Amino acid sequence: MARLWSQVAVVTGAGRGIGRAIARRFAAEGAYVVVVDIDVATADEVVAEIRADDGEAEAMVVDMGDTDAVAGMIQRVAETHDALDILVNNAAVTRNIDFFSVRPEDWDAIHRVNARGLFFCMQAAAGAMRERGGGRIVNIASIAGKGYSGTSNIAYAGSKGAVIAMTRIAAHALGRHNINVNAICPGVTRTDLYYQVVRERAEAAGRLETEVMTAFDGNIPIGRSNEPDDIADLAVFLGSDEARNVTGQSWNVDGGLMWD
Ligand SMILES: NC(=O)c1ccc[n+]([C@@H]2O[C@H](COP(=O)([O-])OP(=O)(O)OC[C@H]3O[C@@H](n4cnc5c(N)ncnc54)[C@H](O)[C@@H]3O)[C@@H](O)[C@H]2O)c1
Repeated sequence: MARLWSQVAVVTGAGRGIGRAIARRFAAEGAYVVVVDIDVATADEVVAEIRADDGEAEAMVVDMGDTDAVAGMIQRVAETHDALDILVNNAAVTRNIDFFSVRPEDWDAIHRVNARGLFFCMQAAAGAMRERGGGRIVNIASIAGKGYSGTSNIAYAGSKGAVIAMTRIAAHALGRHNINVNAICPGVTRTDLYYQVVRERAEAAGRLETEVMTAFDGNIPIGRSNEPDDIADLAVFLGSDEARNVTGQSWNVDGGLMWD
């Protein structure tokens, strides 16, 4: 039996990268997947990929920083399917900025999606799950939130630290409603976001992109960075009944970069 058979799952930022990998794996495990992204073209592409593999999915275009739109999306999913079993809060933004160059507008742009948007999506989803007897929430944080020094910038690291803290608080608040809340903390993961940060860092330091990538990988004890599927594997477990008594945890998938 597929591990997420007949579950209704919302995956945010699912148009590419880690979110896309999670959406595709969830569908392969039998879930009906709502592919949420700000970019309609990539969201539609992922839905087409899932359907081509005989999976079930639909696209919804939502800016995760727009709390009204987020609440409307959750309400629509829950009412249409009379279910919302799994939320994967994955959408996030960042860029390479050094410590002294972070401006208030950078902080706001990053926290608007990564922390504020994630919380209000979790709040709306938890409300729908509570009415239906429970559910599972997987927040995609980052090892940056645990102090990984290779982070793209300090405001991003702060937003991911907020995700880890909110995961714990939410697990306490929602446990009695049979809602599990866990976080995944990816390390270096080869997605468009990673290549964007590599490009920006190479440009800022006057180095080759290959040198920056070698430096990233050189610090990883296991000697290789993640593919998006490395994160999807853990997301399937945390979204399934196998994880029914696991809550409030923040799981690193990073080849051994961080220990806590
Ligand atoms: N790639 C890494 O090395 C890495 C490491 C640690 C954590 N993460 C985290 O993993 C998650 C996914 O990262 P990724 O590397 O796949 O990123 P990505 O940039 O490749 O993909 C992010 C997706 O989110 C969408 N998105 C961005 N802003 C949005 C918004 N306001 N509303 C809706 N959708 C929006 C984008 O359109 C895109 O499809 C993020 O939470 C990121 O912080 C990534």
